[in-house]
Amino acid sequence: MADSKKRNITWHHPLVTQEDRERKNRHKGVVLWLTGLPSSGKSTLGHAIERLLFEKGCSSYVLDGDNIRHRLNKDLGFTPKARKENIRRIGEVANLFTDAGVIVITAFISPYREDREQARALNEAGRFFEIFCKCSVMECERRDPKGLYRRARKGEIKLFTGVSAPYEEP
Ligand code: ADX
Repeated sequence: MADSKKRNITWHHPLVTQEDRERKNRHKGVVLWLTGLPSSGKSTLGHAIERLLFEKGCSSYVLDGDNIRHRLNKDLGFTPKARKENIRRIGEVANLFTDAGVIVITAFISPYREDREQARALNEAGRFFEIFCKCSVMECERRDPKGLYRRARKGEIKLFTGVSAPYEEP
């Protein structure tokens, strides 16, 4: 609050509330936070969930790591610091979606426990569900649809999750 005053910014209260939007949508705004290794199935699962919810008449939307890194987060790489910032921004965006009464499905590796907890902390209890796409490195590497594990093993991609960068399981 004191910080906002110093920066001359004011919080405007909306005339349409989250409650109004949820009443209209007939469901809560929640985050389904998918996490897991590259090629563990996050995007595939996320888009399938979105389709299913859409057909049931729900308001749903997928935020996908690869897509978001093309635009909103195109300034970020894959160092621990950059991934932290990636997840911080997505946590905030996901929270805006829940405020808009949407079921938002995020598909990011989000390798660090602390960063996922920070994203959770932005939401009220019962509005954030962490879903672990549990899949061994061996199986993810066997799938490797984008050929990234193969390139990471050859040293062509640095800091690759599961090969040369960590993944902290939930
Ligand atoms: S996260 O770690 O910051 O959560 P995010 O989900 O946004 O990652 O992006 C992962 C996608 O970026 C992968 O699906 C892959 O296509 C691509 N990618 C490129 N380089 C790397 C890397 N070094 N580690 C992991 N994924 C990478």
